[in-house]
Amino acid sequence: MKKFLKRTLLFIFVASSLYGIGRLGVVAYDSYVFVPRAPYAVMQTQTSITIKWQSPEVEVGSLEYGFFYDSLNKKIEDKKKTKMHSTTISGLNECTKYYYKVNSNSLDIDNKNRSFKTLCKNADSQKIWVIGDSGKRGEDQTKVYEEMLKQIDNDFNKLDMWLLLGDNAYRSGTQKQYNKNLFEPYKELVKRFVPWAIRGNHDARRWAFYRIWDFPTKGESGGEPSGSENFYSIDSANLHLVMLDSEIQRMDVNSDMVKWLKKDLSKNTKPWVVVALHTPPYTDGGHDSDDDGDSGGRMKKVRENLIPIFDEYGVDLVLSGHSHGYERSKLIVNHTGKSESFNEKNILQDAKSCYTKSLKPTKNSGTIYQVCGSSAKLDKAELKHPALPFAFAQMGSILLDITPTTLSSKFINIDGNISDEFIIRKDNTSCEGKE
Ligand SMILES: [Fe+2]
Repeated sequence: MKKFLKRTLLFIFVASSLYGIGRLGVVAYDSYVFVPRAPYAVMQTQTSITIKWQSPEVEVGSLEYGFFYDSLNKKIEDKKKTKMHSTTISGLNECTKYYYKVNSNSLDIDNKNRSFKTLCKNADSQKIWVIGDSGKRGEDQTKVYEEMLKQIDNDFNKLDMWLLLGDNAYRSGTQKQYNKNLFEPYKELVKRFVPWAIRGNHDARRWAFYRIWDFPTKGESGGEPSGSENFYSIDSANLHLVMLDSEIQRMDVNSDMVKWLKKDLSKNTKPWVVVALHTPPYTDGGHDSDDDGDSGGRMKKVRENLIPIFDEYGVDLVLSGHSHGYERSKLIVNHTGKSESFNEKNILQDAKSCYTKSLKPTKNSGTIYQVCGSSAKLDKAELKHPALPFAFAQMGSILLDITPTTLSSKFINIDGNISDEFIIRKDNTSCEGKE
């Protein structure tokens, strides 16, 4: 009997080791394997953009661009033959839309309606589409996308930015999986917007993420130079958007990312500050932020090490994914513990959908926390975190609308209904008479 048990255990050990090694091999291969890819834009700044594409054959490709779709009067040719094309266009006008097309002998490219826009110094309003854990191709992903499109009257001109909160391509963020789960299903968006993608745990497990994307390290898109593609900020009109890597970066007080975050926020001059990171500080939407073992303890680290900084600099909104549901707080402050320690002292404004703040980011002025990891997946969950009273087991996405003095947010669910919405006002008007 003992011998049988020993043999069985040995068999299980060998089989699971072989499976693990095999899987690692497949994922490593898929992360480095070459895949053809239609053009997409990265590194958006006020005066430049980079267009990348991958052609099946080694060749000299070229890119034409201009102010009008039927008159692309400037052309840039690759300096040498390659399959991995990356062309940076500089000397562009700020806040300006350009059309472009890419020429390739071996890649069949749909050049219709290809455009990009440079970042703006100012804007009367900007709409940002936010999706989280969106990397599972299928009907649900498509429906969530289509319901957002209905909100903007199927007019891409009504959208300004696209933000992905991580886990952008299940299961392991490989090259093939990025094509299947992001570049193909969202191809019309990819033709017009920079996919500003943060890194989720499923992206961080493997090696393809920073081969696919280029991110600013020298403050090219605004904010304090970070010296790292893992964390950086973007100044887009009235918004200072901070992108953090909660997956592999250290988050202790003396870590590079935390030191940079403080410096970046202390120098910010924009009225609106939004932070995006995959791992939420609070959630009961699939992951459990009260469980220190969940997600390698990263939720605890975000709470204890990042929230004091968000409070210090009056961050307006923190966007996360990871839990596959929707959860949202009121305007809260100074909550770094588990859910049992959350109390009325943490709630600065006890309203349902209207909050006020001063125009200049101010210490302890309150933050709204939003978890949206259900843009393609849904988990069964309790959704009972006391800091997150507006919580739904629904798939959907967020549409933000930011003006110089207001920030409004809508959660559009998969059926096209607005399940949750709120506004933060910095225009000296009160929320009186509103919930
Ligand atoms: Fe995740």
